[in-house]
Amino acid sequence: MSIDQSFEDTYRRLADALTVTVLTGAGVSADSGVPTFRGPDGLWNNFRAEDLATPEAFARDPQLVWEWYNWRRGLIASTRPNAAHQALARLERRLDQRGGRFRLITQNVDGLHLSAGSRRVTEIHGNIWKVRCTACGLVAENRDVPLRLLPTCSRCRELLRPHIVWFGETLAAEDLRDTYAALESCEILLIIGTSGIVYPAASFAPVAKSAGAYVIELNLETTPYTGVVDRSFQGRAKDLVPALLK
Ligand code: OAD
Repeated sequence: MSIDQSFEDTYRRLADALTVTVLTGAGVSADSGVPTFRGPDGLWNNFRAEDLATPEAFARDPQLVWEWYNWRRGLIASTRPNAAHQALARLERRLDQRGGRFRLITQNVDGLHLSAGSRRVTEIHGNIWKVRCTACGLVAENRDVPLRLLPTCSRCRELLRPHIVWFGETLAAEDLRDTYAALESCEILLIIGTSGIVYPAASFAPVAKSAGAYVIELNLETTPYTGVVDRSFQGRAKDLVPALLK
C-alpha cells in the first residue's frame, strides 16, 4: 500500500470508528512551544530528573524543585493549544454526537488538552496547575505565575508540592482503572508524540492491540511503538492530527 493509500485507509477507519482512545505525550504540545523531555532540545538534556522530579529530590530541596516548576509554569502559561489539541477536542464532540465513546490519556501535565475543550481526559502524570498538600493530601488548582515560595496548604498550613507523578511514584489507582478500561475496549488507539519509553505508557500499545484494537502512531520519528502498531506516520502532530481527523 502506498503512503497515500495507507493515509486514506487510516482516515476512513477513524471516520467510521465509534470507540476511540488517544494516548498523547510531549510531542503533541511541542508545536505549542512546550519543550519535550528527550531529543535535542529536551528538558532531560539540561536538567537531571533525579534532582528535580523525584520525591527524594523534593524532600532534600523543596525550594529548588519549586523553582524549576515555577520556571516551567511560566513557559507553559504563555502557550496555547495547537491544531492537534483542537482536532482531538472536535473528535470527542463528533463521537459524543454519534453516541460513541472517547477517552484521551495524556502524559502531559500542561493542561492544553483541557484548554482546547477535551473533556474525557485522564492526566496520568498529573497537572502542573494543581498543587497537593504533603500532609493532608488536599489537591487544589493554582495558576499563580510565579507561585510564591514555599507554598503552604490553605487547610493545614503544611508544605504544598506539585500535583505531578514523579519518578519512583505510582499512578493514581482511579487513573489506571480508567486507562486500562479505555485501552481494552477501544476500536482504535491513536498514539501521538510520545517516545514510548516511560512506563506504564510504554506498555499501552500491546495492551490495546491484544484486546483487538487497531493501533495508529503519529510521531516526528520512529519509536519503540513503531514495530508494534498497525500504522505509523511520521510528521508534526499539528499537521497530521487535523489531516487524519478532518
Ligand atoms: P518525550 O520527550 O520522551 O518524547 C517526545 C516525543 O514526541 C518524541 O518521540 C518525539 O519524536 C515526538 N515529537 C517531538 N515533536 C513532535 C511534533 N511536533 N509532532 C509529533 N511528535 C513530536 O516525551 P514523552 O514521551 O511525553 O514524565 O515522555 C514521557 C514522560 O517522560 C513524560 O510525561 C515525563 C518524562 O519524564 C514525567 O515527568 C513523570
